[in-house]
Amino acid sequence: TDNPISFKDKVVIITGSGGGLGKQYALQYAQRGAKVVVNDLGGTLGGSGSSNKAADLVVSEIESKGGIAVANYDNIVTNPTGILQTAINSFGRVDILINNAGILKDASFAKMTQKQFEDVLDVHLNGAFKLTQLCWPIFQKQKFGRVVMTASPAGLYGNFGQANYSAAKLGLVGLCETLAKEGVKYNIKVNAIAPLAKSRMTETILPPDVLNKLLPEKIAPLVLYLTSDIVDSSGSIYEVAAGLFAQIRWERSGGLYLNPNKSFTPEAILNKLKDISSFDPSTTEYPTQLNDYNFVYSKTSMLPENSQGSIKIKSLKDK
Ligand code: NAI
Repeated sequence: TDNPISFKDKVVIITGSGGGLGKQYALQYAQRGAKVVVNDLGGTLGGSGSSNKAADLVVSEIESKGGIAVANYDNIVTNPTGILQTAINSFGRVDILINNAGILKDASFAKMTQKQFEDVLDVHLNGAFKLTQLCWPIFQKQKFGRVVMTASPAGLYGNFGQANYSAAKLGLVGLCETLAKEGVKYNIKVNAIAPLAKSRMTETILPPDVLNKLLPEKIAPLVLYLTSDIVDSSGSIYEVAAGLFAQIRWERSGGLYLNPNKSFTPEAILNKLKDISSFDPSTTEYPTQLNDYNFVYSKTSMLPENSQGSIKIKSLKDK
C-alpha cells in the first residue's frame, strides 16, 4: 500500500517497554506519531528489584528524536490502574494496548515451587488480564481498540523447565481468542504473537551469531500492523522471529467418527489410532469457533431432522 501506517493521535500503552522487544515497539510507534506510555518497573529478569531508569531512558530516546512519550514505573501485578491513569492523565485517552511485560522463573517441573508458578502467571497472564479489562470499557465506548498479547513458542509447543511460563503463554492465546470474539461489535481487535528475539531472556540460550540475526526491532513491524486502523485479523496467532512472519492455527485431524448411539471400547480406539492421528490435508479441519462442531455433528449423524444442517451453539452473547 502507498499509504504509510500512521499512529498520529493514537495513544499506546506498552507494558515492560523499558528494554527488549517492548523498547523497540515504543521507538517505532513514536516514530509514526503515537503518544507512548512506556511502562516498566525496571526489575531483573526474575522479577526482583525496581528502578525508574529503564523506562526513563526509552522516553529520553523517543523525545530526543522528536517523539512523544511518558514513563510509568508501576508493577502491572500490583498497580495496573496506575498504568492506565498515566495514559489518561498525560494524553487523555488510550487506543492500543501491548501486553508485553514478562519475567522468567525457570525450573524443572518436579522442582518448581508454587510461588515460581504463580509469580510467572501473575505477570504474564493475570497482569495482561487486569490491564486489558481496565482498558476494555474505554475501547467499547470509543468503538476502537487494539490489543496484542505476547505469547511464546514455549507456550505453543512447551519447553523444558518452563511449565509456569508455557501455561501463562498459552493462557494468553485463549484470552486472545475469546476477547477477539467479544470485541467484534466494538471494533476491538485482539491478536497474539509468539516471538523469538534477542533480549536478556534469550541471551544465554542461543549462540551469539544466531542472536545477532534475531533482532528485537524485527518484531515491531508486525505489532504495529496488528494494531493499525486497517488491520483485518483478530483472534489470530503469529509466530515471528528474525525474518519469519507466519500464522499459527488449530488443526483437527481427519479423525475417527463412530456412531454415538453405540458404546466404544479402548481397543476400538487403539485399532483406529491411524485415523485419529491422521493429518492428511484432504480430511483435516481448521476450527475457529465452537459452532465449527457442526462438522462433527454431521459426521456422527447427530444433526436432528429439522436442524437444516447445523445446530447453533449458544454463548452468553445469545442469552
Ligand atoms: P525483557 O526482559 O527485556 O522485557 C520484559 C520487560 O518487562 C522488562 O523490561 C521488565 O522490567 C518488564 N517487567 C517485568 N515484570 C514487570 C511488571 N510486573 N510490571 C511492569 N514491567 C515488568 O524480555 P523480552 O524478551 O523483551 O520480553 C518481552 C515479552 O516477549 C515477554 O512477555 C516475553 O515473555 C516475550 N517473549 C520473548 C521472547 C524472546 O525471544 N525474547 C520469546 C517469546 C516471548
